[in-house]
Amino acid sequence: MNEDIDSLVHLLKSTRRVAVLTGAGISAESGVPTFRGKDGLWRRYRAEGLATPSAFHQNPKLVWEWYDWRRGLIASKEPNPGHKVIASWENIFPSFHLITQNVDGLHQKAGSKNVLELHGNIWKVRCTEEGSVSENYQTPLNEIPPRCPDCGALLRPHIVWFGEALPSSVLQKSLLFSSSCEVMFVVGTSAVVQPAATLPYSASEAGAKIVEINPAATPLSTYADFSFRGKAGEVLPLVDERLRTASEERKD
Ligand code: OAD
Repeated sequence: MNEDIDSLVHLLKSTRRVAVLTGAGISAESGVPTFRGKDGLWRRYRAEGLATPSAFHQNPKLVWEWYDWRRGLIASKEPNPGHKVIASWENIFPSFHLITQNVDGLHQKAGSKNVLELHGNIWKVRCTEEGSVSENYQTPLNEIPPRCPDCGALLRPHIVWFGEALPSSVLQKSLLFSSSCEVMFVVGTSAVVQPAATLPYSASEAGAKIVEINPAATPLSTYADFSFRGKAGEVLPLVDERLRTASEERKD
């Protein structure tokens, strides 16, 4: 791993445009469960019964109880060193774009300012009648299911469920930044959920180097230019430390 980090740092020293795609694994060390791992949420819960428009239509109370539980769990969690390194890189690379599949808001809590959220945000609610989106940090919720304070209609989590389209402007920007970066980090994602999983391939086809950080192999691993089998909260600080040392040396 050491030699790989050295050659990655060598590449990063002359890199101006970086994109990062994250998934649930970046928040694992903060104590937020992933979806598909050994203790993943989709091992214990049926996605079709909780994260689809038809599940919400059939039983909004059940769906909201599940999101209320997840909101409570996430509320007590703090960003880990992986989130913090990514936040600090906004000030290091002239062009830096963070694309996340996560809905937990931990990137923002770590200080990341420009976050493209492909799958929405668990701290936002949307009126099912008017489509208006607002922030809501109440945990536990006073009323389940919650209702729109303006019109009384049901509120839903502002999250992209299975079978729903991603917000098109977020997806367009993500595609643009993926296909125009020089290096793309792919951190803590099983790289199987579309369309997010295609972003690293778009980046690579446009000439970017792909850096995967994940303790487990994924369909992307053999394709990536660098594949670090380690935890985000350990590998990212290592890369960051060497990068900062290298740029200090250049100044001397
Ligand atoms: P998954 O649960 O599918 O994958 C998490 C990945 O993180 C796995 O490949 C793990 O090996 C890896 N991982 C675990 N601990 C890690 C650590 N400390 N550092 C780095 N990697 C680690 O999560 P996603 O790929 O994010 O959709 O799943 C994609 C989407 O599927 C989610 O956004 C969610 C889910 O259904 C919505 O919520 C709409």
